[in-house]
Amino acid sequence: MKAFLDTYTPPKMNGDFVGKPIVTVEQFTRCDLDQIFATTERIKAGVRRGEQWIHNLCANKIMATLFFEASTRTDLSFQAAMSRLGGRWIGASNGISFSSLYKGESIADTVRAVGCYADAIILRHPAEGASYQAAYYLDMLADKIGHKAVLVSGGDGIGEHPTQALLDLFTIEDAKGGLDNLQIALVGDLKFGRTVHSLAKLIAIYGGENITLTFVSPESLAMPTKVLTFLDGHGINYRQTDNLLDVLSKSDIIYWTRVQEERFENPAEYQAIRNNFIMTPDLLEQAKPDMCLLHPLPRKHEMGTEADQDILDRDPRTCYFHQMENGMFVRMALLAKALGVISL
Ligand code: CP
Repeated sequence: MKAFLDTYTPPKMNGDFVGKPIVTVEQFTRCDLDQIFATTERIKAGVRRGEQWIHNLCANKIMATLFFEASTRTDLSFQAAMSRLGGRWIGASNGISFSSLYKGESIADTVRAVGCYADAIILRHPAEGASYQAAYYLDMLADKIGHKAVLVSGGDGIGEHPTQALLDLFTIEDAKGGLDNLQIALVGDLKFGRTVHSLAKLIAIYGGENITLTFVSPESLAMPTKVLTFLDGHGINYRQTDNLLDVLSKSDIIYWTRVQEERFENPAEYQAIRNNFIMTPDLLEQAKPDMCLLHPLPRKHEMGTEADQDILDRDPRTCYFHQMENGMFVRMALLAKALGVISL
């Protein structure tokens, strides 16, 4: 599947989202992001006010979810998004064991089968490149049957999680009004964490004056070179460190992540670094009073004990519940734009 990262070139949005797959944040420009966020704001306000037009947008649309890796937020927020847009969803969210992949069917055939039934397909897969492969075969299907199902990645192995990055950036923009003069720290497993790969690139695309991006991780879990190369190409300032205390009190945004235990081939390597960065109420005390603490979730011990988490959750600086709610609104906007049912 990884070969498709080199052989399939996802289309740039350039202001027109209709019928285009979403597999990497590299498809977006700053103007695209402004459009998505404006649509998200409009939909969020409309949902809050109970406006009926939103529920009519996808009245004759069907979305399918194909989740071959565990999920709570992405899967259910897409389902909620389509439901709130008035569409319907069909799902194979029980994983490989209940689909024909179990009988040996290829992912290419599975997505083309679903592409015959649905208008949008949300795919989560443990292999990097799976969403690129799915998009490639859905293009081929469209040539054959004349119906194009839009593929949206819900997380592509250790590669990217583009819709998570959009909701992360929307939440930052909501909290801070932009990225100008922000010191942003991404902390934890930057090697296997697909959310930070997408977010770092999206911050570079969004841009702003005087942004400082700091990657805090053990050396063995550092940000991949291909992400750093992308940032270099966009002229964004970044630095790498394993010294959390050095950045904690200076950061305006701290994006905490879970060490991705399931991605380690050698359990001993996971055990060696699993306790490197644990957020606790004591640590939070050292952060700025208006700092915004984000986490894509799910979380484990990297956010302390249950008692710690209870204290963290009540702190006004923790924004992960906003992220989760914004995720549904951002995904509503993306579905509406990709399916061509909203003009702005
Ligand atoms: N943030 C995120 O992708 O969460 P889920 O794995 O629950 O979808």
